[in-house]
This record gives sequence, structure tokens and C-alpha cells, in this order.
Amino acid sequence: METASEIADRLSRASCRKFYDVYRAIDWPERLDDAAWAMSPELVSLHGTPAWDALDEAGRHRLALHEMANVFSLILHGERLLVQGLAHRLYARSNNRPITGYLHHFLDEENKHMVMFGEYCHRYVGKVYPDKKLALAPRPLAPGEEEVVFFCMAMVVEELGDFYNVVIEQDERVDALTRRINQVHHIDEARHLAFGRLHLAELFERHAPGWDADALAAFRRWLGDYLRACWGEYYNPAAYRDAGIADAYEVRQAAIGHPAAVAHRVRASEKLVGYLLRTGVLAERPAL
Ligand SMILES: [Fe+2]
Ligand SMILES: [Fe+2]
Repeated sequence: METASEIADRLSRASCRKFYDVYRAIDWPERLDDAAWAMSPELVSLHGTPAWDALDEAGRHRLALHEMANVFSLILHGERLLVQGLAHRLYARSNNRPITGYLHHFLDEENKHMVMFGEYCHRYVGKVYPDKKLALAPRPLAPGEEEVVFFCMAMVVEELGDFYNVVIEQDERVDALTRRINQVHHIDEARHLAFGRLHLAELFERHAPGWDADALAAFRRWLGDYLRACWGEYYNPAAYRDAGIADAYEVRQAAIGHPAAVAHRVRASEKLVGYLLRTGVLAERPAL
């Protein structure tokens, strides 16, 4: 099996080959295609709930646009934190040269993604939705846990985002520009995820054996809470309100607990949760 250093080297070469100028990679039309969906309707957070049934076709399209912008905003905020943490880790003593080399690409690519997502949100809905995630209460961390936590956060954001990217880029009902952005992102993310999966498994293997049972349990509790907090943001009352839905907060509360929404979260988290269980990072399926 490849080590994280070997894979970092290979991925750096791939990033060089696929290097692009974000300012030229995409042609931004004045308007999106009105006849097309802005995202796959089945991915809209209210899909399958009574609030969705109550909308007419135009209302569903309007909601899909604001939800696409919400998903892009969520990924952008995740990337913002990722860039901070990656910059902080550049040339860290614990990193070897191949890993530092790859972190340069990782940073470059996340910066480009934020340019792309920010442009989409500003152009087509006039804003980036603000980051609403509440910081989870600080707790004492075991040795090495900060590293493990950081790469877990990266993986949650990237795996969930990638689930949306892959479905949307393949969906012919979706507007061409939106599909293209999802595709550009997915191509880079496939490398980030390949690196992240190996790196996180190595970090966990290195550090977790030194944690006592309480520390391990606290870490796993945090990870479940973090995953649920990330999902909570997919149900954004501000996006509902912008799409013309009254009682946006009540709609959110009803949707988030609806069995169709729970089933969607389980399905969309499957790859991520499967990885976390396989590597022992989690011991059991988190409630979603
Ligand atoms: Fe990204
Ligand atoms: Fe990424």
C-alpha cells in the first residue's frame, strides 16, 4: 500500500498536469438557464417533505437555486477553514517534503474553489450565505488529537460536498454552468480525498493508541456532533426565505426531522461513514 508521502508525490504530479487558471476556466453567463434546474431536485433539502409538496414548479426551481448557492457557501466556508489550517501546517516539522509539496497544491486549489463558488453566489443570488456553525465547546485534547480533528473536519466537508458535486455534474436536467462548476470541483476533490483518506488513517493509527478510553470516547462524540452540525447547515432558513418560503424556521425544523431527509443524509454520508468505520476512527454509525 502507498504511504501518504508516496501518494502526495503522485498527487502533486497530477495537480501540476491539471493546473488551471480559475479566471479562465469558466465562462460566466449573464443569467442561468431558466428552463433548467439549478441543482438536482432530489438533493434539495426539503425534497420529499410536505414543504416541497406545497411548492409549485416555479417555487421549486427558485428553491433549488438558493440551495445550490447555500451548498456552495457551505463548501466555501469549509475551505476557508481548511486553507487556514493548511497554511498553518506548511513547513511544519512533522511534514516531509512530499507532503509539504502537496499542501501547496491543496492550498492553491482550495483558494481557486473559493473564487469559483464566491463568484457563483454573488452573481446569481447576490450573496454568500454566512457561516452559521456554532463552535463546539472547547475540550482538552489528547496528544496528536488536534491533527486528527483537523483532517476529520476536512474530510467531512469534502466528502459531503463531493456527494453533491458528483450527482449534480452528471444530471442533465441541471444548468450547464452549474454542472461545470461541480465537475471542476470534483476533479480536484478526488485528489484531496485520496490524500485525506490515507493521511487521516495514518494520523489516527499513530496517535489514537496513546489515548485513554475517555479521550477516545470524547473524540468520537465530537466527530458525531460535528457531522450532525455540518448537516444542520444544509437546512438553511435564510435560503428558504430568499426562495420565498414563509415560516422558514418552522419549515426547517419540520424538514430536518422528516424521514425522507434522514434517509437522504444517511445515503449521502455512506461513503464517509463507511471510511470512518473501516479505519476505526468511529466505532459505530453516528445518528444522523
Ligand atoms: Fe474544494
Ligand atoms: Fe478540497
